[in-house]
This record gives sequence, C-alpha cells and structure tokens, in this order.
Amino acid sequence: MSFFAVPTKEFDTNLFHMIGDEWLLICCYDKANNKTNLMTASWGGMGILWNKEVCFLFVRPQRYTHDLLEKQNRFSVCVLPEEHRKAHKVCGSQSGRNVDKVAVTGLHEAEFNGVKAVAESKFVLVVKQLYRDDLIKTGFLEETLLKNYPTDDFHTVYVCEIEKIFQKKDLNCTF
Ligand SMILES: Cc1cc2nc3c(=O)[nH]c(=O)nc-3n(C[C@H](O)[C@H](O)[C@H](O)COP(=O)(O)O)c2cc1C
Repeated sequence: MSFFAVPTKEFDTNLFHMIGDEWLLICCYDKANNKTNLMTASWGGMGILWNKEVCFLFVRPQRYTHDLLEKQNRFSVCVLPEEHRKAHKVCGSQSGRNVDKVAVTGLHEAEFNGVKAVAESKFVLVVKQLYRDDLIKTGFLEETLLKNYPTDDFHTVYVCEIEKIFQKKDLNCTF
C-alpha cells in the first residue's frame, strides 16, 4: 500500500464523475465499538469556501454515519478503484449499527494522518468538519425536490476542510 500526497489544487480528476458515478466512502471511526464504519455517498461536492478547499457532504439523520459525525471532527473520504466497486453494495445499503462493513466487504483499514481510511482506495481525503447544519423545508425553492424527503428526513450538510489528499501510487495495483 503506497500513497503520495497530492497538493489539493493539483488534484486532477473529474469531480462530477468521481462523486456522482464512482461514489465516495465516508469513513468514520466508531470509538464505542472500536471499528471503522464505511458509508457510500454520492451527493456532495468539492470547492472553495472561506478561502479554504472544502468538501460538502449530505448525510441523512437516520444514518449511523450521522451519529458518528456528530462525535468526531476529523475523518476520511475515500474513493475505491473499479475492482472494489462491489463493496458499495454493502456500504450503501447496510448500517454500521448492525454490521461491521470492513469485515463484510473484506476491505482493509489503514490510518492516514490520524484518521481511519480504506487501504484499497485510489484516493483518500483527510477532512475536518468546519460547519454543519440541517436542510430545512422552507429552504427549498423547487418544490419537486421535496419528493426526496417523504418522511422529512432532511440531510445534514457537513462542510469539511480538505486537509490532505493521498493518491495510490500505482492505480493498477490491487492491495
Ligand atoms: C449510490 C449511493 C449513494 C448514496 N449517497 C448517500 C448520501 O449522499 N447521503 C446519505 O445520507 N446516504 C446515501 N446513501 C445511503 C447510505 O449509503 C446507506 O443508507 C448506508 O447503509 C448508511 O450506512 P450507515 O448507517 O452505516 O451510515 C447512498 C447509497 C447509495 C447506494
């Protein structure tokens, strides 16, 4: 497992494809159970806010990841290579409340700058929360979007500073 740090402004990948098609894995440390939890996320963004390089993540309140994010400021956002895509079947449907997703997927955890991440990742973003807030019904200007919230489970938005981006050295090499 060999990674190199990429200066954020030199991170040369199509973010629309990466977030929307390849998907992200939000990796949180579950201190109470001493395990790492992995959640698939495909709604979010990356950009500049407050003159910082940030990512925006949207997590519904019923996710176990939401509980974990309320307790920890720093965590990682990973991107898996194509050959590990099947892990999203578990990470995007099962809850860390009931399963150990690292064990079930057969992925391996690693530590990057003090946060847990997935060793098989092609990219690991070490991030730190700067701001959080819940979306509110009255904020929606396009009413049709409310169909995404039949139970009023409005996402919490987390704005996180991207502290570091690591890229796997040989993207063709599997762990
Ligand atoms: C492709 C895909 C994208 C997803 N994106 C998000 C997302 O951006 N935000 C969210 O709250 N849930 C999203 N989910 C749902 C969670 O990944 C899913 O509910 C997961 O089981 C929650 O795990 P947890 O309870 O361990 O946190 C997505 C699921 C899939 C399959």
